[in-house]
Amino acid sequence: MNNGKELYQSIIWQNDQLTIIDQTKLPGKEEYIDLNTAENVWEAIKQLKVRGAPAIGITGAYGLYLAVRNNETDRFDEFFEAANKAANYLNSSRPTAVNLSWALNHILDKLLENSKLPVSDLKKMILQTAIDIHDEDRQLCRQIGEHGEKLVPEGAQILTHCNTGGLATGQYGTAFSVIYHAHRQGKVKKVWVDETRPLLQGARLTTWELQKAGIPFSLNIDSAAAFLMKQGNADLVVIGADRITANGDTANKIGSYGLAVLANAHNIPFYVAAPYSTIDMNLQHGGLIDIEQRDPAEVSRFMNTPTAPEGIDVYNPAFDVVPHSLITAIITERGIIKPEYARNFKEMFSPAAIE
Ligand code: MRU
Repeated sequence: MNNGKELYQSIIWQNDQLTIIDQTKLPGKEEYIDLNTAENVWEAIKQLKVRGAPAIGITGAYGLYLAVRNNETDRFDEFFEAANKAANYLNSSRPTAVNLSWALNHILDKLLENSKLPVSDLKKMILQTAIDIHDEDRQLCRQIGEHGEKLVPEGAQILTHCNTGGLATGQYGTAFSVIYHAHRQGKVKKVWVDETRPLLQGARLTTWELQKAGIPFSLNIDSAAAFLMKQGNADLVVIGADRITANGDTANKIGSYGLAVLANAHNIPFYVAAPYSTIDMNLQHGGLIDIEQRDPAEVSRFMNTPTAPEGIDVYNPAFDVVPHSLITAIITERGIIKPEYARNFKEMFSPAAIE
């Protein structure tokens, strides 16, 4: 499946079959696994075999199709009830990234709008919608990169956190796409990759993707970020997002908030790159975001070897929230959004802007 540089895909729909690269096995092994049921999809999302906000939205959409494709009813109400139940189930796998609920609700809305169609056509429509979400993600990630690279100065050293590349999206990534497109313009001197404790998405996945793309980088432990900023080695920080609220507050991988505080203290621009669908206009501020708490063993063990006494109390939030006041700009496929985010999002989401 991986024929060399950059030719990997995190999610593949081919011959009526959903296949993903198992991200828990990277970088050691490039293993592709088939997901045949909604339960397979739920498990894969929960266990981070597929991860990254856009990627779980895409996989969840295919998962909804897998959940209902063999449903035998020909009545819309029964079919819709089954789809709704499957959507709630899939959505329960991970709470923080809005992309998952966005994709599932988008499909449910389309079903309601087309309630007069035969169930066989509705099934085809669900699959086509999942394919469209997947295709659109590739395109808008490219656009995010094209807009974002304009913010990158010549000879830039860029600090990033977690994994936001093609693995986390349909292709190109979000923050990674900004880096990738700036590199193509010859502007990137170096990328600093936070290892991203506890699950090492930076060390395991971002370095793997940077290596494939031929982009120069160094891996650093998360707590080295302050010192490398102090030494003048970071010109900007760019991260992705799992959910951005109506005022610009941004949930992203744990450690993002600390990085934003540090960037601010060192006068370094702090950018968030995310597709438009990551902006959740239903939540007014970041305090309302449901932050996923994960298994204590992710912190107290490393590769199944205890690194702390057994049975201790562990705090393991998967995400934190960067207050909007610390974000220099938000890069979307529609362009670069600057503060004041509450006002600018409202304009962006007005019917006139969407038309
Ligand atoms: O727990 P993860 O690995 O799914 O967390 C992912 C992140 O925090 C990413 O930065 C975010 O989803 C944006 S990916 C384009």
